[in-house]
Amino acid sequence: MSKLFRLMLSKTQHKNLFRNTPEGSKNKSKSVARGNHQNIYIQITSEKTSAIVTECYLCKPITLIKTFSMIVGIPKEIKNNENRVALTPAGTQELVKRGHTVYVQTMAGEGSGFNDESYIGAGGKILATAAEIFSVAEMIIKVKEPIEQEYKLIKKDQLVFTYFHFASYEPLAHAMIKTGAVCLAYETVERVDGSLPLLVPMSEVAGRMSIQEGAKYLEKPLKGRGILLGGVPGVMPAKVLVLGGGVVGANAAKIAAGMGADVIITDVNINRLRYLDDVMPKNVHTMVSNEYTIRELVKTHDLIIGAVLVPGAKAPKLITKDMLKLMRPGTVLVDVAVDQGGCIETCKPTTHEDPTYIIDDVVHYCVANMPGAVPYTSTLALTNATLPYAIKLASQGWKKACNDNMELRKGLNVIGGKVVYKAVADSFNLPYTDVKEFLS
Ligand SMILES: NC(=O)c1ccc[n+]([C@@H]2O[C@H](COP(=O)([O-])OP(=O)(O)OC[C@H]3O[C@@H](n4cnc5c(N)ncnc54)[C@H](O)[C@@H]3O)[C@@H](O)[C@H]2O)c1
Repeated sequence: MSKLFRLMLSKTQHKNLFRNTPEGSKNKSKSVARGNHQNIYIQITSEKTSAIVTECYLCKPITLIKTFSMIVGIPKEIKNNENRVALTPAGTQELVKRGHTVYVQTMAGEGSGFNDESYIGAGGKILATAAEIFSVAEMIIKVKEPIEQEYKLIKKDQLVFTYFHFASYEPLAHAMIKTGAVCLAYETVERVDGSLPLLVPMSEVAGRMSIQEGAKYLEKPLKGRGILLGGVPGVMPAKVLVLGGGVVGANAAKIAAGMGADVIITDVNINRLRYLDDVMPKNVHTMVSNEYTIRELVKTHDLIIGAVLVPGAKAPKLITKDMLKLMRPGTVLVDVAVDQGGCIETCKPTTHEDPTYIIDDVVHYCVANMPGAVPYTSTLALTNATLPYAIKLASQGWKKACNDNMELRKGLNVIGGKVVYKAVADSFNLPYTDVKEFLS
């Protein structure tokens, strides 16, 4: 690998410049005079060199340049029916052209329509196994949270950038604490306005998909009520209740309304409901969420979508077990919030292979990785959002990137065995360490 850095120095500074780099005299430099200053190009030729410190005899140090050439690893996702990949060939090219090395596990992109050759063409390198990827990489970019067979592959101080959803699975939190790795969670990267830019694209996919799936399971052969979402002339449409009017909820409501259903969205945030009331079609109504209202609404609604989120914490149980008895047989519950523990008490995670189960004649669909079923759309939507952050992390290292960027800083959940995200620590009564202890 070869990298070029440019410094602007005065002639005197140039004369007195000496370079103090890990590779010392092996570095080549050349200079070009321009007016009063010199453009100094310093070429680093070693793949291992990640930083260059430049000092001047006269005014030490004149410049301290630190740049990282990160080794990035993209393992193949192994969660059931997970066909997304964390980086596309386009993303690979963006990282490689900035001097980073990208290793992709063979077939990692296959499920999303990207073969190994397309990664090689973009400058990536292919490795055969996950073990090799985890062993060589300084930064792992994934889609889903590590699962048990990956725990032992994660190394101390390795940066793991992926969805973790710690609050929904305590063993994962303990496993990551044990690794000593730096866990930067997509789902808690947060903008100043409180929005979650790395949850949004998947929430858009899951929200839209929840209605597609819900409509399917309302069909009689799939144990649903046998009701068509949009009805037909002379027959009433289905009633859809959406719990939580955030990104998932709004996308679900939009699709359900588009299919002709009668839709109610509930939320605790009245300002959000005002906004939704403004932008949603006429067949969407809003109500403030509380136990009394939900208990009434479940009696008459055919399809109920769970779409609430309290960032970093377990989802509140808005539908309790006893409420199932109030529902009509064949009612369908799609608990999209299952990845945060679910907002339906009887929700337990399912997979695309076996997505539903029935309790009290009520169909439960609780697939934790819904976007995994539409990997083409999901991979592009996800990587459009993650790549700018991945580039920052690779180019600056996680410490500087998180110091400079408050959005990324919020994504830090576990560092070197310490939980640095309060809601995760609170969920499991684990000691909480302020992230400032690791940053300046
Ligand atoms: N299963 C999947 O494949 C999948 C995919 C994407 C997202 N999700 C999950 O879907 C959930 C929703 O995500 P989102 O992006 O829409 O979040 P969001 O933050 O955009 O929206 C959540 C909404 O829930 C509301 N809310 C909070 N507590 C509430 C309560 N007690 N009653 C009613 N509303 C309440 C909030 O006010 C907010 O409007 C999250 O748990 C997310 O992780 C799951």
